[in-house]
Amino acid sequence: MRILAIETSCDETAVALIEASNVGSGTSIKVVGNALYSQAETHSAFGGVFPMLAKREHAKNIVSLFASCITQAQNSDKKRCIPGLKNQVLQTLDIETKKKVEKVLDREDDLYEDLILFLEGFNDGKGFEMPHIDAIAVTAGPGLEPTLWVGISFAVALGIIFDLPVLPINHMEGHIASILSPDNDDSASVCEVTDGDLQAAAASQEQHSNKTIEFPALALLISGGHTELVDIESWGSYKVIGRTKDDAIGEAFDKVARILGLGYPGGPEISAHADRHRTAVQSNAIDPLLKEFDFTLPRPMLKTMDFDFSFSGLKTAVLYLVRDIKKKLIEKGTLTSDTDHLPKEIVAAIAAEFESAVTEVLVYKTNKAIDQARTKTIILGGGVVANTFIRDAFTKLVEDTNAQRLDMDKISLKIPPIKQSTDNAVMIGTIACVRALADNTYMNQNAIDTKKLDEGLQVSDLIAADGNLSL
Ligand code: KG4
Ligand code: ZN
Repeated sequence: MRILAIETSCDETAVALIEASNVGSGTSIKVVGNALYSQAETHSAFGGVFPMLAKREHAKNIVSLFASCITQAQNSDKKRCIPGLKNQVLQTLDIETKKKVEKVLDREDDLYEDLILFLEGFNDGKGFEMPHIDAIAVTAGPGLEPTLWVGISFAVALGIIFDLPVLPINHMEGHIASILSPDNDDSASVCEVTDGDLQAAAASQEQHSNKTIEFPALALLISGGHTELVDIESWGSYKVIGRTKDDAIGEAFDKVARILGLGYPGGPEISAHADRHRTAVQSNAIDPLLKEFDFTLPRPMLKTMDFDFSFSGLKTAVLYLVRDIKKKLIEKGTLTSDTDHLPKEIVAAIAAEFESAVTEVLVYKTNKAIDQARTKTIILGGGVVANTFIRDAFTKLVEDTNAQRLDMDKISLKIPPIKQSTDNAVMIGTIACVRALADNTYMNQNAIDTKKLDEGLQVSDLIAADGNLSL
Protein backbone atom coordinates (compact mmCIF):
# COMPACT_ATOMS: atom_id res chain seq x y z
CA MET A 1 0.00 0.00 0.00
CA ARG A 2 1.33 3.46 -0.88
CA ILE A 3 -0.13 6.69 0.44
CA LEU A 4 0.84 10.30 -0.25
CA ALA A 5 0.35 12.34 2.94
CA ILE A 6 -0.11 16.06 3.48
CA GLU A 7 0.14 17.95 6.79
CA THR A 8 -0.62 21.67 7.29
CA SER A 9 -2.37 21.79 10.69
CA CYS A 10 -0.12 24.44 12.24
CA ASP A 11 3.24 25.89 11.13
CA GLU A 12 4.88 22.89 9.45
CA THR A 13 4.15 22.25 5.77
CA ALA A 14 4.92 18.60 4.99
CA VAL A 15 4.42 16.07 2.21
CA ALA A 16 5.48 12.41 2.44
CA LEU A 17 5.05 9.22 0.47
CA ILE A 18 4.72 6.12 2.66
CA GLU A 19 4.84 2.50 1.57
CA ALA A 20 3.53 0.00 4.10
CA SER A 21 2.76 -3.68 4.43
CA ASN A 22 1.87 -6.10 7.19
CA VAL A 23 4.86 -8.24 8.15
CA GLY A 24 4.11 -10.84 10.82
CA SER A 25 2.43 -9.01 13.68
CA GLY A 26 4.16 -5.72 12.82
CA THR A 27 3.81 -3.08 10.15
CA SER A 28 6.64 -2.38 7.76
CA ILE A 29 6.84 1.35 7.08
CA LYS A 30 9.02 2.75 4.32
CA VAL A 31 9.45 6.46 3.77
CA VAL A 32 9.78 6.73 -0.02
CA GLY A 33 9.68 10.53 -0.11
CA ASN A 34 9.58 13.15 2.62
CA ALA A 35 9.78 16.93 2.50
CA LEU A 36 9.09 19.32 5.34
CA TYR A 37 9.37 23.05 5.85
CA SER A 38 8.98 24.66 9.28
CA GLN A 39 7.70 28.23 9.45
CA ALA A 40 8.90 28.60 13.07
CA GLU A 41 11.34 31.38 12.17
CA THR A 42 8.64 33.35 10.36
CA HIS A 43 6.40 33.25 13.42
CA SER A 44 9.09 33.79 16.04
CA ALA A 45 8.76 37.57 15.64
CA PHE A 46 5.13 37.28 16.81
CA GLY A 47 5.97 34.94 19.72
CA GLY A 48 3.49 32.38 18.37
CA VAL A 49 1.77 31.17 15.21
CA PHE A 50 -0.14 33.85 13.33
CA PRO A 51 -2.83 31.79 11.48
CA MET A 52 -3.35 33.91 8.34
CA LEU A 53 0.40 34.26 7.81
CA ALA A 54 0.78 30.49 8.34
CA LYS A 55 -1.94 29.87 5.73
CA ARG A 56 -0.16 32.03 3.15
CA GLU A 57 3.17 30.32 3.85
CA HIS A 58 1.61 26.85 3.41
CA ALA A 59 0.05 27.92 0.08
CA LYS A 60 3.38 29.40 -1.07
CA ASN A 61 5.51 26.35 -0.25
CA ILE A 62 3.37 23.25 -0.66
CA VAL A 63 3.97 22.73 -4.42
CA SER A 64 7.77 22.84 -3.94
CA LEU A 65 7.51 20.32 -1.10
CA PHE A 66 5.26 18.07 -3.19
CA ALA A 67 7.81 18.32 -6.02
CA SER A 68 10.66 17.40 -3.68
CA CYS A 69 8.77 14.43 -2.24
CA ILE A 70 7.82 13.14 -5.71
CA THR A 71 11.39 13.47 -7.02
CA GLN A 72 12.69 11.44 -4.07
CA ALA A 73 10.02 8.78 -4.71
CA GLN A 74 10.86 8.61 -8.43
CA ASN A 75 14.54 8.15 -7.64
CA SER A 76 13.78 5.51 -5.04
CA ASP A 77 11.48 3.62 -7.43
CA LYS A 78 14.09 3.74 -10.21
CA LYS A 79 16.70 2.21 -7.91
CA ARG A 80 14.41 -0.52 -6.65
CA CYS A 81 12.51 -1.52 -9.88
CA ILE A 82 9.46 -2.77 -7.97
CA PRO A 83 7.25 -5.01 -10.09
CA GLY A 84 3.54 -4.09 -10.21
CA LEU A 85 3.97 -0.38 -9.63
CA LYS A 86 1.93 1.66 -12.08
CA ASN A 87 2.98 5.28 -12.51
CA GLN A 88 0.55 7.75 -14.02
CA VAL A 89 1.94 9.90 -16.81
CA LEU A 90 0.23 13.23 -17.20
CA GLN A 91 0.74 15.14 -20.44
CA THR A 92 -1.58 18.13 -20.17
CA LEU A 93 -4.69 18.74 -18.16
CA ASP A 94 -8.01 19.10 -19.98
CA ILE A 95 -10.06 22.26 -19.55
CA GLU A 96 -12.77 20.59 -17.46
CA THR A 97 -10.26 19.21 -14.92
CA LYS A 98 -8.51 22.56 -14.76
CA LYS A 99 -11.80 24.33 -14.04
CA LYS A 100 -12.60 21.91 -11.22
CA VAL A 101 -9.13 22.26 -9.71
CA GLU A 102 -9.26 26.04 -9.99
CA LYS A 103 -12.55 26.09 -8.07
CA VAL A 104 -11.13 23.87 -5.32
CA LEU A 105 -8.04 26.07 -4.93
CA ASP A 106 -9.71 29.46 -5.41
CA ARG A 107 -9.10 30.63 -1.82
CA GLU A 108 -5.43 29.70 -1.69
CA ASP A 109 -3.55 32.62 -3.27
CA ASP A 110 -1.46 31.43 -6.25
CA LEU A 111 -1.67 27.74 -5.44
CA TYR A 112 -3.68 26.86 -8.55
CA GLU A 113 -1.19 28.58 -10.89
CA ASP A 114 1.79 27.07 -9.06
CA LEU A 115 0.41 23.54 -9.24
CA ILE A 116 -0.55 23.70 -12.93
CA LEU A 117 2.76 25.31 -13.83
CA PHE A 118 4.61 22.57 -12.01
CA LEU A 119 2.62 19.65 -13.45
CA GLU A 120 2.61 20.93 -17.05
CA GLY A 121 6.13 22.27 -17.04
CA PHE A 122 7.62 19.08 -15.67
CA ASN A 123 10.28 17.19 -17.52
CA ASP A 124 10.61 19.76 -20.32
CA GLY A 125 7.19 18.91 -21.68
CA LYS A 126 7.75 15.13 -21.61
CA GLY A 127 4.89 14.78 -19.16
CA PHE A 128 4.69 14.49 -15.42
CA GLU A 129 5.12 11.00 -14.02
CA MET A 130 3.30 10.46 -10.74
CA PRO A 131 4.76 7.55 -8.78
CA HIS A 132 2.27 4.78 -8.02
CA ILE A 133 0.06 5.63 -5.03
CA ASP A 134 -3.22 4.17 -3.79
CA ALA A 135 -4.63 7.21 -1.96
CA ILE A 136 -3.93 10.68 -0.61
CA ALA A 137 -4.15 11.25 3.16
CA VAL A 138 -4.56 14.73 4.59
CA THR A 139 -4.81 16.15 8.10
CA ALA A 140 -8.40 17.36 8.61
CA GLY A 141 -8.00 18.44 12.26
CA PRO A 142 -7.45 19.28 15.01
CA GLY A 143 -5.41 22.38 14.17
CA LEU A 144 -5.81 25.89 12.82
CA GLU A 145 -8.75 25.88 10.41
CA PRO A 146 -7.33 28.35 7.84
CA THR A 147 -4.10 26.32 7.59
CA LEU A 148 -5.89 22.96 7.53
CA TRP A 149 -7.86 24.14 4.50
CA VAL A 150 -4.68 24.65 2.45
CA GLY A 151 -3.71 20.98 2.88
CA ILE A 152 -7.25 19.76 2.32
CA SER A 153 -7.77 21.83 -0.85
CA PHE A 154 -4.38 20.71 -2.20
CA ALA A 155 -5.17 17.04 -1.45
CA VAL A 156 -8.57 17.29 -3.14
CA ALA A 157 -6.98 19.00 -6.18
CA LEU A 158 -4.48 16.12 -6.51
CA GLY A 159 -7.33 13.65 -5.95
CA ILE A 160 -9.20 15.17 -8.92
CA ILE A 161 -6.15 15.33 -11.20
CA PHE A 162 -4.93 11.79 -10.52
CA ASP A 163 -8.34 10.25 -9.81
CA LEU A 164 -7.41 9.07 -6.33
CA PRO A 165 -9.40 8.70 -3.10
CA VAL A 166 -8.69 11.34 -0.41
CA LEU A 167 -8.58 10.23 3.24
CA PRO A 168 -9.19 12.75 6.06
CA ILE A 169 -6.84 12.02 8.97
CA ASN A 170 -6.95 13.03 12.64
CA HIS A 171 -3.67 14.77 13.46
CA MET A 172 -3.54 13.33 17.01
CA GLU A 173 -3.98 9.79 15.67
CA GLY A 174 -1.02 10.61 13.45
CA HIS A 175 1.03 11.55 16.51
CA ILE A 176 0.21 8.14 18.05
CA ALA A 177 1.39 6.43 14.84
CA SER A 178 4.69 8.33 14.84
CA ILE A 179 6.09 5.54 17.05
CA LEU A 180 6.09 3.38 13.93
CA SER A 181 8.36 5.82 12.05
CA PRO A 182 11.85 4.68 11.05
CA ASP A 183 14.35 5.56 13.78
CA ASN A 184 16.89 7.29 11.62
CA ASP A 185 16.58 10.96 12.47
CA ASP A 186 17.71 12.02 9.00
CA SER A 187 14.50 10.75 7.45
CA ALA A 188 13.00 14.22 7.00
CA SER A 189 14.53 16.12 4.14
CA VAL A 190 14.24 19.56 5.67
CA CYS A 191 13.88 22.36 3.15
CA GLU A 192 15.35 25.81 3.32
CA VAL A 193 14.15 29.05 1.78
CA THR A 194 16.82 30.51 -0.48
CA ASP A 195 16.09 33.69 -2.44
CA GLY A 196 12.38 33.10 -1.98
CA ASP A 197 12.56 29.54 -3.38
CA LEU A 198 12.35 26.33 -1.46
CA GLN A 199 15.37 24.12 -1.95
CA ALA A 200 15.21 20.55 -0.83
CA ALA A 201 18.30 19.69 1.18
CA ALA A 202 19.83 16.23 0.96
CA ALA A 203 17.59 13.67 -0.70
CA SER A 204 16.23 11.29 1.87
CA GLN A 205 18.02 8.03 2.37
CA GLU A 206 16.19 4.72 2.30
CA GLN A 207 14.18 4.71 5.52
CA HIS A 208 12.53 1.58 6.74
CA SER A 209 11.08 0.23 9.97
CA ASN A 210 9.12 -2.79 11.13
CA LYS A 211 7.66 -2.24 14.55
CA THR A 212 5.03 -4.03 16.60
CA ILE A 213 2.70 -2.50 19.17
CA GLU A 214 1.04 -4.63 21.79
CA PHE A 215 -2.45 -3.51 22.81
CA PRO A 216 -4.08 -2.41 25.05
CA ALA A 217 -1.87 0.64 25.15
CA LEU A 218 -1.92 3.92 27.03
CA ALA A 219 -0.89 7.00 25.05
CA LEU A 220 0.20 10.32 26.49
CA LEU A 221 -0.26 12.96 23.78
CA ILE A 222 1.56 16.19 24.54
CA SER A 223 1.67 18.92 21.91
CA GLY A 224 1.09 22.63 21.33
CA GLY A 225 -2.68 22.13 21.40
CA HIS A 226 -3.20 18.94 23.41
CA THR A 227 -2.43 17.14 26.65
CA GLU A 228 -4.34 13.88 26.69
CA LEU A 229 -4.19 10.40 28.17
CA VAL A 230 -5.75 7.92 25.78
CA ASP A 231 -6.68 4.29 26.31
CA ILE A 232 -6.08 2.41 23.06
CA GLU A 233 -7.77 -0.95 22.57
CA SER A 234 -6.54 -1.31 18.98
CA TRP A 235 -5.80 1.04 16.06
CA GLY A 236 -8.92 3.17 15.64
CA SER A 237 -10.38 2.38 19.07
CA TYR A 238 -9.53 5.25 21.41
CA LYS A 239 -10.94 6.53 24.72
CA VAL A 240 -9.65 9.83 26.07
CA ILE A 241 -9.47 9.29 29.85
CA GLY A 242 -7.75 12.55 30.82
CA ARG A 243 -7.15 15.95 29.26
CA THR A 244 -6.04 19.45 30.13
CA LYS A 245 -8.66 21.73 31.63
CA ASP A 246 -6.95 24.85 30.27
CA ASP A 247 -3.59 25.32 28.50
CA ALA A 248 -1.94 22.46 26.62
CA ILE A 249 1.53 21.59 27.82
CA GLY A 250 3.29 22.84 24.65
CA GLU A 251 1.33 26.08 24.96
CA ALA A 252 2.58 26.37 28.57
CA PHE A 253 6.19 25.87 27.37
CA ASP A 254 5.66 28.58 24.73
CA LYS A 255 4.02 31.05 27.14
CA VAL A 256 6.58 30.51 29.90
CA ALA A 257 9.36 31.00 27.34
CA ARG A 258 7.81 34.33 26.41
CA ILE A 259 7.60 35.36 30.10
CA LEU A 260 11.30 34.48 30.42
CA GLY A 261 12.18 36.53 27.33
CA LEU A 262 13.04 33.43 25.25
CA GLY A 263 12.13 32.82 21.60
CA TYR A 264 9.43 30.79 19.84
CA PRO A 265 8.89 27.82 19.84
CA GLY A 266 9.44 27.91 23.59
CA GLY A 267 9.87 24.16 24.21
CA PRO A 268 13.38 23.74 22.75
CA GLU A 269 14.48 27.07 24.30
CA ILE A 270 13.30 26.12 27.81
CA SER A 271 14.83 22.70 27.42
CA ALA A 272 18.26 24.09 26.41
CA HIS A 273 18.33 26.58 29.32
CA ALA A 274 17.14 23.93 31.80
CA ASP A 275 19.92 21.58 30.66
CA ARG A 276 22.47 24.32 31.15
CA HIS A 277 21.24 24.90 34.70
CA ARG A 278 21.37 21.20 35.61
CA THR A 279 24.91 20.92 34.24
CA ALA A 280 25.92 23.92 36.40
CA VAL A 281 24.33 22.31 39.47
CA GLN A 282 26.08 18.99 38.80
CA SER A 283 29.47 20.63 38.44
CA ASN A 284 28.84 22.86 41.45
CA ALA A 285 29.15 25.96 39.30
CA ILE A 286 26.05 27.78 40.49
CA ASP A 287 26.12 31.53 40.02
CA PRO A 288 26.33 33.31 43.45
CA LEU A 289 23.40 35.56 42.47
CA LEU A 290 21.20 32.50 42.12
CA LYS A 291 22.00 31.32 45.65
CA GLU A 292 20.02 34.33 46.94
CA PHE A 293 16.81 32.99 45.42
CA ASP A 294 15.17 29.80 46.58
CA PHE A 295 11.98 28.91 44.74
CA THR A 296 9.76 25.98 43.85
CA LEU A 297 6.86 25.97 41.42
CA PRO A 298 3.55 24.15 42.02
CA ARG A 299 2.86 20.63 40.66
CA PRO A 300 -0.78 21.18 39.54
CA MET A 301 -3.49 18.52 39.83
CA LEU A 302 -1.33 15.95 41.63
CA LYS A 303 -3.94 15.48 44.31
CA THR A 304 -7.02 15.10 42.07
CA MET A 305 -8.44 11.62 41.60
CA ASP A 306 -8.89 11.99 37.83
CA PHE A 307 -6.37 11.86 34.97
CA ASP A 308 -6.83 15.51 34.00
CA PHE A 309 -4.16 18.20 33.80
CA SER A 310 -4.00 21.98 34.24
CA PHE A 311 -1.05 24.18 33.31
CA SER A 312 -2.41 27.70 33.34
CA GLY A 313 -1.86 28.15 37.13
CA LEU A 314 1.74 27.02 36.72
CA LYS A 315 2.28 29.58 33.97
CA THR A 316 0.83 32.29 36.26
CA ALA A 317 3.12 31.11 39.06
CA VAL A 318 6.10 31.68 36.74
CA LEU A 319 4.78 35.15 35.91
CA TYR A 320 4.57 36.08 39.64
CA LEU A 321 7.95 34.52 40.37
CA VAL A 322 9.60 36.55 37.60
CA ARG A 323 7.85 39.71 38.83
CA ASP A 324 9.06 39.10 42.45
CA ILE A 325 12.64 38.30 41.45
CA LYS A 326 12.80 41.37 39.20
CA LYS A 327 11.55 43.54 42.09
CA LYS A 328 14.34 42.27 44.35
CA LEU A 329 16.95 42.72 41.63
CA ILE A 330 15.80 46.31 41.03
CA GLU A 331 16.13 46.98 44.79
CA LYS A 332 19.65 45.54 44.67
CA GLY A 333 20.49 47.65 41.64
CA THR A 334 21.18 44.59 39.42
CA LEU A 335 18.28 45.56 37.11
CA THR A 336 17.18 49.09 36.31
CA SER A 337 13.53 48.39 35.39
CA ASP A 338 11.08 45.49 35.17
CA THR A 339 11.34 45.57 31.38
CA ASP A 340 14.97 44.39 31.66
CA HIS A 341 15.58 40.68 31.07
CA LEU A 342 16.47 38.50 34.05
CA PRO A 343 20.13 37.38 34.28
CA LYS A 344 20.54 34.22 32.20
CA GLU A 345 21.44 32.02 35.20
CA ILE A 346 18.11 32.88 36.81
CA VAL A 347 16.25 32.26 33.54
CA ALA A 348 17.94 28.84 33.30
CA ALA A 349 17.03 27.97 36.91
CA ILE A 350 13.36 28.88 36.39
CA ALA A 351 13.32 26.93 33.11
CA ALA A 352 14.70 23.85 34.91
CA GLU A 353 12.16 24.14 37.74
CA PHE A 354 9.31 24.56 35.23
CA GLU A 355 10.49 21.54 33.24
CA SER A 356 10.75 19.47 36.43
CA ALA A 357 7.25 20.52 37.57
CA VAL A 358 5.51 19.59 34.31
CA THR A 359 7.48 16.36 33.97
CA GLU A 360 6.57 15.27 37.50
CA VAL A 361 2.88 15.84 36.79
CA LEU A 362 3.01 13.98 33.45
CA VAL A 363 4.82 11.01 34.97
CA TYR A 364 2.55 10.90 38.04
CA LYS A 365 -0.70 11.00 36.06
CA THR A 366 0.49 8.47 33.48
CA ASN A 367 1.64 6.11 36.23
CA LYS A 368 -1.77 6.46 37.88
CA ALA A 369 -3.50 5.67 34.58
CA ILE A 370 -1.52 2.50 33.91
CA ASP A 371 -4.04 -0.26 34.32
CA GLN A 372 -2.02 -2.86 36.24
CA ALA A 373 -3.75 -5.79 34.58
CA ARG A 374 -4.17 -4.45 31.08
CA THR A 375 -1.67 -1.87 29.86
CA LYS A 376 1.00 -3.54 27.74
CA THR A 377 2.49 -0.49 26.05
CA ILE A 378 2.98 3.16 26.90
CA ILE A 379 3.08 5.43 23.86
CA LEU A 380 4.31 9.01 23.86
CA GLY A 381 3.26 11.34 21.03
CA GLY A 382 3.27 15.07 20.16
CA GLY A 383 5.84 17.83 19.74
CA VAL A 384 6.69 18.04 23.45
CA VAL A 385 8.01 14.46 23.23
CA ALA A 386 11.08 16.03 21.58
CA ASN A 387 12.02 17.05 25.14
CA THR A 388 14.87 14.82 26.35
CA PHE A 389 14.21 15.45 30.06
CA ILE A 390 10.65 14.16 29.61
CA ARG A 391 11.83 11.22 27.46
CA ASP A 392 14.36 10.23 30.16
CA ALA A 393 11.75 10.54 32.94
CA PHE A 394 9.42 8.14 31.12
CA THR A 395 12.23 5.69 30.44
CA LYS A 396 12.85 5.64 34.21
CA LEU A 397 9.12 5.32 34.98
CA VAL A 398 8.86 2.21 32.82
CA GLU A 399 12.11 0.73 34.22
CA ASP A 400 10.85 1.24 37.79
CA THR A 401 7.40 -0.15 36.95
CA ASN A 402 8.90 -3.25 35.34
CA ALA A 403 11.30 -3.80 38.26
CA GLN A 404 8.26 -4.14 40.53
CA ARG A 405 6.41 -6.47 38.15
CA LEU A 406 7.91 -9.72 39.34
CA ASP A 407 5.21 -12.12 38.13
CA MET A 408 3.50 -9.83 35.67
CA ASP A 409 4.17 -9.07 32.03
CA LYS A 410 6.50 -6.14 31.52
CA ILE A 411 5.29 -2.91 29.97
CA SER A 412 7.06 -1.54 26.92
CA LEU A 413 7.64 2.14 26.19
CA LYS A 414 7.37 3.46 22.63
CA ILE A 415 8.75 6.92 21.92
CA PRO A 416 9.01 8.37 18.40
CA PRO A 417 12.40 9.49 17.07
CA ILE A 418 12.99 13.13 18.11
CA LYS A 419 12.52 14.56 14.59
CA GLN A 420 9.32 12.61 14.12
CA SER A 421 7.86 13.93 17.41
CA THR A 422 6.99 17.37 16.07
CA ASP A 423 4.50 17.77 13.21
CA ASN A 424 5.31 15.91 9.99
CA ALA A 425 3.57 14.10 7.14
CA VAL A 426 5.22 10.70 7.71
CA MET A 427 2.95 10.13 10.72
CA ILE A 428 -0.14 11.09 8.66
CA GLY A 429 0.75 8.62 5.90
CA THR A 430 1.69 5.98 8.46
CA ILE A 431 -1.65 6.04 10.30
CA ALA A 432 -3.55 6.04 7.00
CA CYS A 433 -1.62 2.93 5.86
CA VAL A 434 -1.92 1.20 9.26
CA ARG A 435 -5.69 1.72 9.41
CA ALA A 436 -6.20 0.63 5.80
CA LEU A 437 -4.01 -2.47 6.23
CA ALA A 438 -5.80 -3.46 9.46
CA ASP A 439 -9.29 -3.18 7.97
CA ASN A 440 -10.04 -3.52 4.27
CA THR A 441 -13.29 -1.56 4.62
CA TYR A 442 -11.44 1.50 6.06
CA MET A 443 -10.57 3.06 2.72
CA ASN A 444 -14.11 2.73 1.28
CA GLN A 445 -15.76 3.97 4.44
CA ASN A 446 -13.50 6.98 5.02
CA ALA A 447 -12.19 8.17 1.67
CA ILE A 448 -13.99 10.98 -0.06
CA ASP A 449 -14.82 10.51 -3.69
CA THR A 450 -13.88 13.66 -5.60
CA LYS A 451 -16.27 12.64 -8.43
CA LYS A 452 -19.10 13.77 -6.15
CA LEU A 453 -17.94 17.32 -6.86
CA ASP A 454 -19.35 16.83 -10.39
CA GLU A 455 -22.80 16.38 -8.82
CA GLY A 456 -22.85 19.95 -7.55
CA LEU A 457 -21.40 19.28 -4.11
CA GLN A 458 -18.77 21.58 -2.60
CA VAL A 459 -15.47 20.37 -1.11
CA SER A 460 -16.80 21.33 2.35
CA ASP A 461 -19.76 18.95 1.83
CA LEU A 462 -17.32 16.06 1.50
CA ILE A 463 -14.47 16.93 3.86
CA ALA A 464 -14.15 19.75 6.38
CA ALA A 465 -11.33 21.26 8.35
CA ASP A 466 -12.24 20.75 12.01
CA GLY A 467 -10.08 22.76 14.39
CA ASN A 468 -11.38 20.85 17.41
CA LEU A 469 -11.56 17.35 15.97
CA SER A 470 -11.19 14.84 18.80
CA LEU A 471 -10.02 11.24 18.80
O1 KG4 B 1 2.98 18.47 17.82
P1 KG4 B 1 3.54 19.82 17.56
O2 KG4 B 1 4.70 19.91 16.60
O3 KG4 B 1 2.42 20.78 17.03
C1 KG4 B 1 1.10 20.66 17.52
O4 KG4 B 1 0.38 19.74 17.08
O5 KG4 B 1 0.79 21.47 18.42
O6 KG4 B 1 3.96 20.46 18.96
C2 KG4 B 1 4.48 21.74 19.04
C3 KG4 B 1 4.81 22.03 20.48
C4 KG4 B 1 5.22 23.48 20.71
O7 KG4 B 1 4.45 24.01 21.77
C5 KG4 B 1 6.70 23.37 21.08
O8 KG4 B 1 7.13 24.37 21.99
C6 KG4 B 1 6.75 22.00 21.70
O9 KG4 B 1 5.91 21.22 20.91
N1 KG4 B 1 8.11 21.44 21.70
C7 KG4 B 1 8.79 21.18 22.83
C8 KG4 B 1 10.09 20.76 22.43
N2 KG4 B 1 10.14 20.78 21.07
C9 KG4 B 1 8.91 21.21 20.64
N3 KG4 B 1 8.42 21.27 24.13
C10 KG4 B 1 9.34 20.94 25.05
N4 KG4 B 1 10.60 20.55 24.76
C11 KG4 B 1 11.01 20.44 23.47
N5 KG4 B 1 12.26 20.04 23.18
ZN1 ZN C 1 1.06 18.09 16.37
